[in-house]
Amino acid sequence: MAHQVKGVIAKSKGDPVAIETIEVPNPGPGEVLIDVKACGVCHTDLHYREGAINDEFPFLLGHEAAGLVEEVGEGVTGLAAGDFVILNWRAVCGHCRSCRRGRPWNCFSTHNATQKMKLDGKELSPALGIGAFAEKTLVAAGQATKVNPEAKPEVAGLIGCGVMAGLGAAMNTGQVSRGDSVAVFGCGGVGDAAIEGSRLAGAHTIIAVDIDPTKLEWAKEFGATHTIDSSKVDPVEAIREITDGNGVDVAIEAIGLPITYEQAFYSRDLAGTVVLVGVPNPEMKIELPMIEIFGRGGTLKSSWYGDCLPSRDFPMLIDLYLQGRLELDRFVSETIGLDEVEEAFHKMERGEVLRSVVIL
Ligand code: APR
Ligand code: ZN
Ligand code: ZN
Repeated sequence: MAHQVKGVIAKSKGDPVAIETIEVPNPGPGEVLIDVKACGVCHTDLHYREGAINDEFPFLLGHEAAGLVEEVGEGVTGLAAGDFVILNWRAVCGHCRSCRRGRPWNCFSTHNATQKMKLDGKELSPALGIGAFAEKTLVAAGQATKVNPEAKPEVAGLIGCGVMAGLGAAMNTGQVSRGDSVAVFGCGGVGDAAIEGSRLAGAHTIIAVDIDPTKLEWAKEFGATHTIDSSKVDPVEAIREITDGNGVDVAIEAIGLPITYEQAFYSRDLAGTVVLVGVPNPEMKIELPMIEIFGRGGTLKSSWYGDCLPSRDFPMLIDLYLQGRLELDRFVSETIGLDEVEEAFHKMERGEVLRSVVIL
């Protein structure tokens, strides 16, 4: 028998979201029913509501979540009722070309639950194949990663999207290591997580760049050793000064804008690395002298979901958090109810929060 639960739905383009009673099936083969405990409000949820991802309304929003396994479907191994899990939107398939090449973090063939959740008999499109602004949700077993249950759900859930993207941009994609110098452009949740990841990886100099003084103050709390207000000074020059005229080893762009990508490109030292974790829109273009791309050497990389491997990274990060070595509480600006998601979108647009997290 299907479960009737409350969920946050975007019914049509641009309309405010609303709470509806939805139908969540019992888990079939390879599926897991999750009793959602917390789910962060991410920009991508807002992009779905605005029709910027696709037109497959109605959407069940929410994808940055933690909860308890309520029931597992046939053939599911490694998960059992009562397990505390973080949901991940890229489930490793194990047999695509990337998985077979030993690069499961790039899996090209992620999968979601086969059965559909429904609203008034109509199939819902769950955000990023998850849909966790709901009391219960149905996911593929590979989308639930077991972690230490001592972590608070509102903190653990953040590892499922934005915070993982930032931490991974530094630790996995950028390969920041001991003694490196790093610059992070954009100090929202993703950028601050990149700062935190750089600190954890042993970076010696961590330069935060933003146009909002409040964000720069917060960035210091995550481990920035220097801050630059790029609305006031040229960040490329300022970064050069801080790094004895050299530029940084790793420059991380966490906004998704051509201007800040160029700043990142020019602020790195010879043979350095640029990481793009901010998501540009399809119209954006950059123009760079090709000789600079060649002459500066090094690496230009993109970071998909922080190039994370959930089964490797999620339990490790939660353990570091529980040991007090990874600051995650600070990302939670406020905890809210399921009925406050629309207001949380506005706070996000006004830049007032790093993360609003729905508690269920
Ligand atoms: N120069 C410097 N900083 C800027 C600029 C700019 N031109 N424009 C915006 N910013 C800053 C904002 O002040 C803010 O602090 O970038 C930060 C962006 O933060 P958020 O809007 O909170 O975004 P976040 O959730 O961190 O995501 C950043 O990563 O995963 C992607 O889709 C996500 O593209 C988005 C990016
Ligand atoms: Zn997200
Ligand atoms: Zn794969």
